Amino acid sequence: MNWNDFAPWGRRVADWAQEYHQTVGDKPVRARTRPGEVLNALPAAPPEGGEDMEAIFADFENIVMPGITHWQHPRFFAYFNSNAAAPSVLAEFLVSAISPQCMLWQTSPAATEMETRMMDWLRQALGLPDPFAGVIQDSASSATLAAVLTMREKALNWKGNSEGLPGQTPLRVYASSEVHTSIDRAIWIAGIGQDNLIRVPIKGEWRGMDPQALENAIQSDLDAGLKPAGLILCVGGTGTGATDPVRECLAVAKKYGLYTHIDAAWAGSAMICPEFRHYWEGVEEADSIVFNPHKWLGAQFDCSAHFVRDPEDLVKTLAISPEYLKTHGAEGIINYSEWSIPLGRRFRALKLWFLIRAYGLEGLRERLRNHVAWSQKLHDKLAAHPDFEIVTKPMWSLWTFRFVPNSSTGLDVLNQNLVNEINDDGRIYLTQTRVDGALVIRFQTGQFETTEDDVMMAYDVITEIAERLTQ
Ligand SMILES: Cc1ncc(COP(=O)(O)O)c(C=O)c1O
Repeated sequence: MNWNDFAPWGRRVADWAQEYHQTVGDKPVRARTRPGEVLNALPAAPPEGGEDMEAIFADFENIVMPGITHWQHPRFFAYFNSNAAAPSVLAEFLVSAISPQCMLWQTSPAATEMETRMMDWLRQALGLPDPFAGVIQDSASSATLAAVLTMREKALNWKGNSEGLPGQTPLRVYASSEVHTSIDRAIWIAGIGQDNLIRVPIKGEWRGMDPQALENAIQSDLDAGLKPAGLILCVGGTGTGATDPVRECLAVAKKYGLYTHIDAAWAGSAMICPEFRHYWEGVEEADSIVFNPHKWLGAQFDCSAHFVRDPEDLVKTLAISPEYLKTHGAEGIINYSEWSIPLGRRFRALKLWFLIRAYGLEGLRERLRNHVAWSQKLHDKLAAHPDFEIVTKPMWSLWTFRFVPNSSTGLDVLNQNLVNEINDDGRIYLTQTRVDGALVIRFQTGQFETTEDDVMMAYDVITEIAERLTQ
């Protein structure tokens, strides 16, 4: 293939993508592929000669597409969504055509300066104060790792990178049991060690950290000669939307000089609506905050927005500067690779620019508000059904429930079977989690094009399949 053939193929791909998005709701949400099926359909060895694009595209449709779980399906209620609003997909198409590598300002000034501006647009949209500056990371996991490395370096007086961890006073990081496991992994990679990730007890309906228990844990570590280094809070945890009392916990952390990071990977998008901001009151005192615009704002995957109060902390922790990466003769520029772990960086800001301009903040808020309202409506309807109990109340658009038909025992198995049957059915897609040891079913709404009818259809599917299971 050469570039003369590109435009006709580009048009065909665009037509295909439009039709895909307009008809994806007719397909089963979860792939029905058996393990190994796609692998075995692919030749074991690469072709020696070039192949015709027509054949490649046919195989894409025949081999790949049947093995795809449709994350853009309007009835994808599992995990958290990973969205792809049309304007952001167009931006990605352009980015893939230009394919710039945006590690330094000079390797694409437009990408760097667009990133600065978009992160500031997002900062304003979320109602965060001026001192926060931002960088786009590939994932919340990377942003959290950058934050954990920063808390490690600060606690070690910036000596961890040079001297390593052996011989240092063990560092302690605090989080509740509700944080995402990417926090555990960041702790492992940073060399802090799982045993030094202290789980602070939770309390209340939001399943948030108990600030007094946090202070007790810090105090007891200090008494034992250990070094408290950081606090990681969650706002909208993965299982149930657990949310820590941000203001109170940050006040404790500040008292003891801890670096603080807030994981709002999913719920952060909702903060463009002022009425949801009470969930993270006090957030302006944090050192680091991450949220994923691809999860709920509509940005095409991947796009993770990482805000920091003081970028210098990140740069001191992560910047590498061999001679070939130095920018001479340009003052006041940002090299975003110094704010993140990978050196090579994609141009992710363009899709935010397209997205925010195409819908405006009001258009995006409307979608989020609808998702929350429709999810609440479904919650109310299922709560009124005698065979279902609500386990955790809606946090934004996420809540959990359990099928509890009369005198049933073995409820964990029954509920897992229900999830499996629902997902095999294909009209909707749900996932399970555990709350206080019990297996429960999660429901969340966040697909960009979902409608009220899509959400309410979940009631019919859940109750119909549950009834069948107990017959
Ligand atoms: C609350 C929370 N934090 C972090 C993550 C990890 O996100 P990423 O896949 O961007 O690393 C997730 C993933 O769903 C999440 O729900």
